[in-house]
Order: sequence, then C-alpha cells, then structure tokens
Amino acid sequence: MAKLINGKEIAAEIRREIKADTEKFKEENGYAPGLAVVIVGEDPASQVYVRNKHRACEEVGFYSKGFELAADTTEAELLALIDKLNHDESIHGILVQLPLPKHLDEEKILLAIDPKKDVDAFHPYNVGRIMIGNYDFLPCTPAGVMALLERSGVAIEGKECVVVGRSNIVGKPQALLLLEKNGTVTVCHSRTKNLAEVCRRADILVAAIGKPEFFDASYVKEGAVVIDVGMNRRPADGKLCGDVDFASVEPIASAITPVPGGVGPMTITMLLKNTFTAAKKQGAKV
Ligand code: GUN
Repeated sequence: MAKLINGKEIAAEIRREIKADTEKFKEENGYAPGLAVVIVGEDPASQVYVRNKHRACEEVGFYSKGFELAADTTEAELLALIDKLNHDESIHGILVQLPLPKHLDEEKILLAIDPKKDVDAFHPYNVGRIMIGNYDFLPCTPAGVMALLERSGVAIEGKECVVVGRSNIVGKPQALLLLEKNGTVTVCHSRTKNLAEVCRRADILVAAIGKPEFFDASYVKEGAVVIDVGMNRRPADGKLCGDVDFASVEPIASAITPVPGGVGPMTITMLLKNTFTAAKKQGAKV
C-alpha cells in the first residue's frame, strides 16, 4: 500500500509559513505583498480559480486586487491595464488568467508583464532563467510538485524520473526542475513509442497529459513514487479525477498523490510564494 502524499496538508503548512513571513514583512515595511489578478470574459472555471486566488491571498495577509474585464476587451485596453499595473507600487505580482478570449494574442499579453512581477513565470525572460538554473520564480504547478516531493522526503538525485506531458506550463519546466535536482529525466508525449515500458522505468513518475485515469498499474514499477498532475472530469460520473487510475496504481506504488487533494492545493500556494518573493525583491533597497 502506498503512502498518501497529502497536498492539502503540505499546502496548509507552507501557507502558515508564508503567513508568518508576511506578518514580519508588514511590520518591517508597512505594506503587504500585493497581487493583481486579471480575468477577461466569463469562463466559469477561470472564475473559480480567480476567486480561490483572492481567497488564498486573504488567508496569508496579502493585498489582492481583481480586474474583471468584459469578453470583448481589446488588446490595447488590456495592454494599457498591464502597463498601469507594471508601474503600480502597491502591486508586486501580476497574473493574467488563461485562457484569454481568442481575439487576444496570449504571447503578446504575457510579454507585456514586467518580468519582476511575473508571478506565473510565463514570461520568456523568466523561462530562460529557469533553463540556466538562476531564477526568482518557478511556474506554480511544477514548483508545487517539487515541494511535495521535498516535504515527503522523496530523494531525486540519481533517480529515474519520467515526466509524461511536454507543455510549457507543466511538462517542460517539470523536467528541468527534476534535472536540476540530479534526477535522470525522460520526457514522454503523445508520439512516444512504448509509453508503458518507458513509464515502468520510473522511480518517480509525473503524469501530466490531461486524460482521465489513463495510467493504470501496467505503467508503474513496483515501489515507484507517482505524482498525478491531472485535473479531469471522469466521463462515467462527472467526478474530479486525475490522469492516474488511483485504485489500480495505489497498491503497487510506494507513494502517490490523490486527486483532489494532491498537486491541486499546491499550485495556488506556489503563487503565494512567488508573490512574496516578488514583494521582497521589489522592496529591497539595493
Ligand atoms: N489558467 C489555468 N492555470 C493557470 C495558471 O497557472 N496561471 C494562469 N495565469 N492562468 C491559468
């Protein structure tokens, strides 16, 4: 039976640490770390995420400001708002919720965010810094996975790490972070041949393909650590589920994250961490 990696508990522990650090920061500086969250349009899932981000800020004592823009907002209007936030001293982090409506060029919008305030770590400047291992911010989901592994006592050095998924937001940065910790990293994707065979090499398997319960026991080596980044609806009953077939894999893994309650709660926690880092960096008198 696998040890359950409890993301809810680990996230709560990190948030308590951030809250304590924030109290000290406020005493020393006289202001709170500030996060601006911009949402364009009315995508219901995005609205839930954004609400949770504000709630998390409140929980740790940050200042958060929401900007809810109409679905037909023009690129010029959104760029003007970002420019204003780039120059707003009460705002240390800027997050533009994705996906954006089709008429807006996501790449252009993300490029407009001041890299010092880019708490998603989506700006090419920050992506480049991750590539060379000299970064201030990490993208929230892979950073959350690393924190889960670290706080669960999973050593990475010398381990076979298999990441399934190669998105810019999760798979690619995840591979770099495992490599930085001296893992032997393989990245798999939709064109990978013999996927199950490659996955069975893994001491640490990170599943991030967005297919409900895709990975059953035939993809997992006995004793592997299995991290499930998936956040899907199960077609049969519409319930939340991961990319891993938990019932099949749990008996053979040594440790596993559940969905919900695994990687999910860590993501916003890492956003808080990035926002705190941004506030510290911008406040530094150097
Ligand atoms: N939409 C889904 N996940 C994310 C995220 O981590 N950041 C932003 N900005 N948008 C998202």
